[in-house]
Amino acid sequence: KRVAILISGGGSNMIKLVESMTGDHPARPVIVGSNDPQAAGLAHARALDVPSFAIDHRAYPGDRAGFEAALLEPLLAARPDILCLAGFMRILTPDFVQRFQGRILNIHPSLLPKYPGLHTHRRAIEAGDAQAGASVHLVTPELDAGPILGQVRVPILPGDSAETLAARVLVQEHRLYPQVLRRFAQGDQRPITLTAA
Ligand code: GRF
Repeated sequence: KRVAILISGGGSNMIKLVESMTGDHPARPVIVGSNDPQAAGLAHARALDVPSFAIDHRAYPGDRAGFEAALLEPLLAARPDILCLAGFMRILTPDFVQRFQGRILNIHPSLLPKYPGLHTHRRAIEAGDAQAGASVHLVTPELDAGPILGQVRVPILPGDSAETLAARVLVQEHRLYPQVLRRFAQGDQRPITLTAA
């Protein structure tokens, strides 16, 4: 299976996904794209010998369709079977999602369906939750709402800030996403739940 990965920033999840696709893994990374030409993850992709590109969404103000048309060109040229969103911070239109229907995965830093959208860790702390975590789900036209393929739970500790919690969750994202991708690439969509090691 050919895997494309979209990032917006550091790309730590992308790095873990690329590093996981070796040996008898049924998938290989074929392209890394970003909406930000300055995304630090692009340099990491190059260092990992994965072709990369960037389409600056700021070049398409108020023109989401135009941005996505530009994004689709290098993406489709790589002939991906699976598209992984990994720290990708742009909302994709239903048209875009439908083109990859059922083959887009996303990782979201909350225990969905709780806290779709942004500032998930601050919201969990303010709600007094005992646990936080991350979810990998199939992307559907509704934001952060598709079928869940995997979750990992992380305790919220006394004195946690959004930053300390985010760092603890990110470590677990790096375990969860590669495991979900491997199963998904083998056609296994049974959801998994990990607990923080
Ligand atoms: C992190 O907050 C992560 O929880 C979310 O996107 C952000 C950046 O991830 N998935 P990455 O380091 O760019 O993969």
